[in-house]
Amino acid sequence: MNDRASARLVRRLRQLQETILALIAPLGNAECREQYHSDLSPIGWHVGHTVFVEDFWLRKETLRDEEHALYVPENSIKAERGARLPEKAALVDDVRRRQRANVRLLQTPHGRPAGAGDYLLKFLVQHHAQHAETMRMVLTQRQLRLCGQRAHARGLTQAAPVRREAVRVGAGEYEIGGVDDWSFDNELPRHAKKMKPFAIARGAVANAEYLGFIEDGGYRRDRHWDAAGLRWRRALGCRAPDGWRCARDGGWFEITCTGARALDPEAPVRGLSHFEARAFSRYAGARLPCEYEWETAGAQGLLDKNTQAWEWCANAFHPYDGFRAFPYDEYSRPWFDGAHYVLRGASAFSEGDCARLSFRNFHTPEKRHIFAGLRLAFD
Ligand code: AVJ
Ligand code: FE
Repeated sequence: MNDRASARLVRRLRQLQETILALIAPLGNAECREQYHSDLSPIGWHVGHTVFVEDFWLRKETLRDEEHALYVPENSIKAERGARLPEKAALVDDVRRRQRANVRLLQTPHGRPAGAGDYLLKFLVQHHAQHAETMRMVLTQRQLRLCGQRAHARGLTQAAPVRREAVRVGAGEYEIGGVDDWSFDNELPRHAKKMKPFAIARGAVANAEYLGFIEDGGYRRDRHWDAAGLRWRRALGCRAPDGWRCARDGGWFEITCTGARALDPEAPVRGLSHFEARAFSRYAGARLPCEYEWETAGAQGLLDKNTQAWEWCANAFHPYDGFRAFPYDEYSRPWFDGAHYVLRGASAFSEGDCARLSFRNFHTPEKRHIFAGLRLAFD
């Protein structure tokens, strides 16, 4: 890759560093340490973690043991991270200084440490992009605490019937996987996959369609739910997607990381667990697509590009044949445990650096705070 392309990558990393600091700018010290959701670290931890990961790859020797103990996820308990973080002002000063030093190092190609080539830059850009999205998940959970009960005038009231139009893809052998060095280890190697014919919706399930499911008693009628889904629903007792609130006049609005707003009837539904996505697909007389179907239809130009919500897929996260872990063992390998499902696409709160056909996100099925919805598929 040439110098201009490298320079562009460094500028993008710089932007993401700024984005990460900007996301905590309005927050107080206590808010940076607060754990707003049991599955999410305090937002200040993400700030320290992202610069730790830069330093880990660029200047390992300068890292202190305390930083390894706090910012390597496997080394620290989520619930204890907040109390161990520095004060916000000290954290921001330290992070800013180290971010600048790292950008300077990356701007001098001959001064870069061995191995700090464009692959590493692409890894850091995508890593930071993913943490920026996770920080917006934290901010969303914070808003749910701040304005969870406040009503919003003129929310969504009009449900829409399920759209069952779909595009057909014939049986065949299709190429799956990453095509360039933006790929994470789990997207490789690229390989051919034999597939049966299938049909898949061009667009994701929209808010108004999901409201139809709610109004049809979707959360009360057991027949839409499989056994695991029923157990999950009964334990949690939820009746609407994460972040949805119903005003006194019956209109539905959503709480986002920037506050409350009316639900857009046409926008993809977000805030669903895998269990809810499965229940909706069953209610619709459909199923979730397998990730290979999603990628194949996308590669043929059959899917709408407008991705506002991650889309749950039917299959578990697994290694492709010939998988090799890189640049470190824990990025993917620990999550090939059969307990994680694949999500494809991107959300309205993603940075875009990972938005490609082959990108595979992965989460356990009960997660609702990850900006995920679904798309329907048919045999
Ligand atoms: C692929 C988004 C689930 O955020 O846990 C960030 C990405 N891995 N740092 C996560 C990741 C290490 C990962 N997800
Ligand atoms: Fe990380």
